[in-house]
Amino acid sequence: MNIQTAIQGATGYTGAELIRLIDAHPVFQIMHLGAHSQAGRKVSDALPGVSGTIGDTLLASADDPLPDEVELVFTALPHGASARCVQRALNSGKRVVDLSADFRHRDVATYKTAYGVDHPCPELLSEAIYGITEFQKDTLLAEARLVANPGCYPTSALLPLIPLLRAGVLDTGNIIIDSKSGASGAGRSARTELIFCEVNENVRAYGLPKHRHAWEIEEKACFFSDVRACIQFVPHILPMTRGMLSTLHLSGKQPETWCGILMNAFADKPFVCMLAEGQLPSIAGVAGSNRCDIGISVTGPDHAVVISCLDNLIKGAAGQAVQNANLMFGLNEQAGLSRIALWP
Ligand SMILES: NC(=O)c1ccc[n+]([C@@H]2O[C@H](COP(=O)([O-])OP(=O)(O)OC[C@H]3O[C@@H](n4cnc5c(N)ncnc54)[C@H](OP(=O)(O)O)[C@@H]3O)[C@@H](O)[C@H]2O)c1
Repeated sequence: MNIQTAIQGATGYTGAELIRLIDAHPVFQIMHLGAHSQAGRKVSDALPGVSGTIGDTLLASADDPLPDEVELVFTALPHGASARCVQRALNSGKRVVDLSADFRHRDVATYKTAYGVDHPCPELLSEAIYGITEFQKDTLLAEARLVANPGCYPTSALLPLIPLLRAGVLDTGNIIIDSKSGASGAGRSARTELIFCEVNENVRAYGLPKHRHAWEIEEKACFFSDVRACIQFVPHILPMTRGMLSTLHLSGKQPETWCGILMNAFADKPFVCMLAEGQLPSIAGVAGSNRCDIGISVTGPDHAVVISCLDNLIKGAAGQAVQNANLMFGLNEQAGLSRIALWP
């Protein structure tokens, strides 16, 4: 069995990662690649890493009609543009995994506050299923027409946070999430603050006082745990290409039990690796894989530091999107995805 797919936003960083993953997928095949300013060019001219038949393909415009054979569309466009593209795909009978933030929020007011624009297709928000696969119900993903793929920072924060909130062990008024991302997290479009000389030999915080992903972390932590928490989230950009490390400073009761809570939560989850207490994860240990590694260190009688690491382009974007698509189409969750990192 083969399932034909389209990737909209194929010339971006997450789109390119989708091409790489789907090219090696046992069931999904690439039939259509859409772009915007690079529409009409050969894929290999826009993406030097892609050769062969896919490299020779001409990029369509994201506005072009999709071939009838396409069943599944990945949309990896900037927010705002993605919503319209999703709407066209759904109207032509396709199922969609959207990597943008356009369908992550349930309510238009939160979307407008976080993204500063009116939602282009508010009527679709209620049917979108938030695809944090480790906590979302498989049955909902299997029936979904539209899956909203979580953001990269939210994935790294929510994976350790939700089981601890569910267990009722955290002081919910005092959760601090300090996150760092490689520069690919900001996408491929040229911006002064992302040029080599600005990022190299430099680390800086950005997006304060309330980064867009803080809204997503707060909303989804509450949705999946039924606990409302007060969260301080500070993102930083690192002088490296890919990878993300989030440090959660947590207080609460019996922190010596938290490692066991997290181990139980992820015992049957193939892409989350809970390390033994005291072992700490690193970006190099996950880059290139669809894994999120989590480590914990108990730093006081009522404090612990939890660190989670993932590849922002894979578990934080394209890999998680494929994981969601596998569950939507009744495939093995792990199909086409690697647990093994690139090393060295
Ligand atoms: N980068 C990450 O780590 C990451 C992680 C999770 C989620 N995301 C989300 O995933 C989406 C894609 O991110 P990215 O980093 O891959 O972005 P990117 O590298 O900037 O690529 C954007 C893609 O969208 C196309 N595009 C730009 N403007 C468009 C428009 N107005 N209409 C249609 N297509 C347009 C571009 O086509 P041309 O090249 O032809 O102009 C390109 O293919 C974003 O919503 C982002 O927030 C990114």
